[in-house]
Amino acid sequence: MASNAPTHHHHHERSVWSGKLAFILAGAASAVGLGNLWRFPTLAAKYGGGMFIFTYFVLAFTFGISLLLLETALGRHTKLSVIGAFSSLRKRWKFVGVLAAAVPFIITPYYCIIGGWVTKYLASYVAQGADAVAVDGFFTSFITDPVFTYVFMLIFMLLCLGVVALGVKNGIEKANFVMMPLLIVFAVGIAIFVLMQPGAAEGAAYYLIPDFSKFSPELVINALGQMFYSLSLAMGIMVTYGSYLDKKESLTQSVASIAGFDLLVSFISGLMIVPAAFLALGLAEGGTMSAGPSLMFVTLPAVFNGMGGAATFVGIVFFVLVLFAAMTSAISLIEACTSIVQDGTHWSRKKSLIVTGIVLIVAGCFINAGYNALIWIEPLGPGTQLLDFFDFLSNSVMMPIVALLTCVFVGWVIKPKVIIDEVRASAKFSLAGAWTVMIKYIAPILVVAILVWNVITQFA
Ligand code: TRP
Repeated sequence: MASNAPTHHHHHERSVWSGKLAFILAGAASAVGLGNLWRFPTLAAKYGGGMFIFTYFVLAFTFGISLLLLETALGRHTKLSVIGAFSSLRKRWKFVGVLAAAVPFIITPYYCIIGGWVTKYLASYVAQGADAVAVDGFFTSFITDPVFTYVFMLIFMLLCLGVVALGVKNGIEKANFVMMPLLIVFAVGIAIFVLMQPGAAEGAAYYLIPDFSKFSPELVINALGQMFYSLSLAMGIMVTYGSYLDKKESLTQSVASIAGFDLLVSFISGLMIVPAAFLALGLAEGGTMSAGPSLMFVTLPAVFNGMGGAATFVGIVFFVLVLFAAMTSAISLIEACTSIVQDGTHWSRKKSLIVTGIVLIVAGCFINAGYNALIWIEPLGPGTQLLDFFDFLSNSVMMPIVALLTCVFVGWVIKPKVIIDEVRASAKFSLAGAWTVMIKYIAPILVVAILVWNVITQFA
């Protein structure tokens, strides 16, 4: 800053997006992640294909964007990250901000462990080729490795920390501008390639054609949970990102674009993953598609390996795509953590980032030890690891609680008008009435249903 510039600001300089597109891309970058690539296709395959996709679509564009709008407007209104946003409006509600802020600190370390696995797979495809990766036991022997899991987690974390260190405009925005479009191109490319394989059409039909008999409360709850995770709601991220947005940019358009982008990527990843897994797992004959790691790290490498000469190439493109998705999400998570530390301590951005980085690395090493030195800790019953526990704690328990308290806070304490006025500062908001009903009544009920469901299914 020039020495003669007036010093109106009492705190440090706050980061800002260069414009609406950068904000949308950042929201999309945090939304599009491992959740789109492995959770969405699995859920869609399990819950009647098109039926699940349709339900998800409806929920995302009613409930999902209502909450996205709430969070981003709250951030922009207060110009603070999540703890400050709550406490500046009502001191006694600061604890909700604290709870929300804790979520990215829990998610980031384990997300980066998985990011490390992705990095390792990419490296193996490049160095050894598809045969080596498809070997039985490759995955298990890697994730329990007491040295290399830490090394790859560190590589992944340092890459992401490096981008965040370059700043919001020079680091995060630029990384998103490169990675997000490439991600789409690669996903479309692999989807086309997979759909050209013999037998794939049947798999695509399985994915797309709605099976109405699968519609159930369970489907709705699962679609809701997926939506929260995918849109990065109730974790303080969108509040922080909203706080970097200029007052003149339209919030309604931005959140609709973010939700649309997220759904598009989920849909395409279903097109590439469901048909690929369809034959490999015999879904038509009642086989099941497991959620999460084994689908991505065991089933798909086996499917790729069956593709002959192209196997290594397809594997590389696929894991670059997964790496980009994981990195852009991890970058968002690290940014949220850093911003929370910075707002809480008034340290410089650099110091806040260094301290955040150290905390995250130590936490990552601890959780990763759950696969080797601490493998005897089975927090959620036999065969479960620390990573499963922190995933359950953050996504299944804390996130619905934060979402509930946020809706009560806005709907009943500060009153919806505060948010509606903020939205109207830059856009028409003709659905303000419907939005109010959503935040005051519908959302709290749905969120309590998610929480109850998550806890019951975990412990029953
Ligand atoms: N949305 C990300 C995904 O689909 C994961 C995620 C959850 C996330 N919460 C987040 C990413 C917060 C960034 C910030 O994989």
